[in-house]
Amino acid sequence: MVEMAQSEFLATLLRFDEQNDLEGLLAQIQNTEHPPERLHAAMTAALLAGRMRVAFILAMLLGNRGQWNALVSLALALGGLLFGNAAEERRGMDGLLLGRDTLPLADAERETLHGRVVVPVFSPLLQTALAQADSGRLMRLMEILHAVTPGWAAGFDRFCAERPRGETLLRFILERPHRYIDKWSHYLEIYERYFARYRGGEVTLIEFGVSHGGSLQMWKEYFGPGARIFGVDIDPRCAVVNEENITVFQGNQDDRNSLRALRAALPRPDIIIDDGGHTMTQQINTLEEFFFHLKDGGIFLAEDLHTSYMRSHGGVYRASDNFIEYTKRLIDQLNARYSEDPALSLDDYGRSMFSMHYFDSVLVIEKRAESAPIQLQRGTPSFNNFS
Ligand SMILES: C[S@@+](CC[C@H](N)C(=O)[O-])C[C@H]1O[C@@H](n2cnc3c(N)ncnc32)[C@H](O)[C@@H]1O
Repeated sequence: MVEMAQSEFLATLLRFDEQNDLEGLLAQIQNTEHPPERLHAAMTAALLAGRMRVAFILAMLLGNRGQWNALVSLALALGGLLFGNAAEERRGMDGLLLGRDTLPLADAERETLHGRVVVPVFSPLLQTALAQADSGRLMRLMEILHAVTPGWAAGFDRFCAERPRGETLLRFILERPHRYIDKWSHYLEIYERYFARYRGGEVTLIEFGVSHGGSLQMWKEYFGPGARIFGVDIDPRCAVVNEENITVFQGNQDDRNSLRALRAALPRPDIIIDDGGHTMTQQINTLEEFFFHLKDGGIFLAEDLHTSYMRSHGGVYRASDNFIEYTKRLIDQLNARYSEDPALSLDDYGRSMFSMHYFDSVLVIEKRAESAPIQLQRGTPSFNNFS
């Protein structure tokens, strides 16, 4: 057999690929017994040149010969997904996840892979999976994406090490099949802190912002069979998310009339989550129209409040109409009964809020209408005067 130069080998493969001659391509790779380093170099060159089919076939061949590394694994995983080969895809995933510990990619390699491979190849696959609501494929793609995204793996490991709380929800997100979900990691601990007491009971939850429906499925599983989960979204496609105990309504947080119509149609909930459009108007409208619809003792949780600092969402630091500034005024209501200033007097919020808790991007309000507190004064005085 005539020894083929590296560049000639790659050029031959690319020519077969251009001619769409898959058999020729495969025969070329399998019949010439190139050393693994040559296959690997050709695969890397093909990947970086954006010639995915050549790269994937080479990667699979290398994988079959036991030549593992993260690059091969990525190509195997994506190639398996592209060509519908579940076994190759699984092997690629195993290699990628293993590679996190044993064969870490240099940051520069991750950047290259991410920019040149993951984005052009991965994004169309992701879009297809999203459009088809193919949750299994979506989860596999997310795993692949995370394994090769610069900083993600390290951030994920740190998150797992630092935040053991929120574990039940994290396990659902990472391990259970479900529709696409989009939550910030630290929210999980906050959810569990306020929602745990409702688990296993008869709970009604309304979430604004359905997207692909993953969070509604998470709530259904977290709270159990007694839960009635309602979603509201402006996008009519969200109706596909309907299933037993999950009902989606179409509605617009920008439109007070729409919110009022929803309020008339929806039962009084124990929990409201605002994860909708996150503009200032939408957040204020939703709080004003729905806070008093909560059951007494209920929880209003508004998330992604960082949009108060983002012009894209109408948020400007310290602008009086941003949601953070709006809710700061509610803090005054928590204490309004003590006000000596006529500009501040107790209103319905003050009479209905038990507490307001601020976190990074999240506000939790506990609704509890209580009569004015009384001072509890008992015990033996230690001095002969009171001050
Ligand atoms: C961040 S996503 C929701 C994510 C989902 N809760 C999850 O955890 O996977 C935001 C959703 O808000 C919806 N939305 C945007 N503007 C809206 C509006 N004016 N009224 C209602 N929903 C809106 C979008 O259609 C999108 O589905």
